[in-house]
Amino acid sequence: MARLGVNIDHVATLRQARGGKEPDPLSAAVLVELAGADGLVVHLREDRRHIQDRDLALLREIVQTKLDLEIGAEESMAKIALSIKPHFVTLVPERRQELTTEGGLEVAGQQERIQRIVDLLHDSGIPVSLFVEPDLNQIKAAHKVSADFVELHTGRYANARRSKEEDAEFETIAQAAKLAYKVGMGVNAGHGLTYRNVRRLTKIPEIVEFNIGHSIIARAVLVGLERAVREMKQLVS
Ligand code: PXP
Repeated sequence: MARLGVNIDHVATLRQARGGKEPDPLSAAVLVELAGADGLVVHLREDRRHIQDRDLALLREIVQTKLDLEIGAEESMAKIALSIKPHFVTLVPERRQELTTEGGLEVAGQQERIQRIVDLLHDSGIPVSLFVEPDLNQIKAAHKVSADFVELHTGRYANARRSKEEDAEFETIAQAAKLAYKVGMGVNAGHGLTYRNVRRLTKIPEIVEFNIGHSIIARAVLVGLERAVREMKQLVS
């Protein structure tokens, strides 16, 4: 049975839309854990568009499962991770203009740079995961820089329009998972996963954890809306 890490960045995005206090990602973290999630995932972006430094420090205090901190592969971000000491760090590519993390980290093409960040984190005893495309060269490069885990980017699989295309992307992920497992890395997967498309990926035995955000938060808005309106209606009438 695979583990579920829940990404709560979107809760912070909603809060930042008004610049106030609601909804608080810390409250979300408590509920996510109560519901049985195995871990929390947050991405501290360079532009701080959703999760803030204060959220991160407080989450580190209250999370009782595992806190996986996603950061760009920059020394300045690694230093923040060293001061917070999350249970894991996942290195992701980061571009300011992107809506969300597009594509995996280019490990093969910048091995030295990634190696430096991995070493920094390892020196403090923090396990490192690299968010990569399900590409065999990237998996080999991740192994070379001593990553403990890879997180396979499932975006292309999730966006496949035709079943033939989805079949091909599924196979690519399965092969990447096999290789990563064979060389001794843990295998996670995430991005764009939904209540519809995740089921097939659970058939890949090497994947031990799915990290899912948008679909869960989107569903929470809908399944929680009825109760929220009923409670307000009661208050005003
Ligand atoms: N894993 C990583 C490394 C990510 O960057 C993201 C998106 O922030 C996710 C998982 C979750 O993706 P989604 O919100 O599409 O479920």
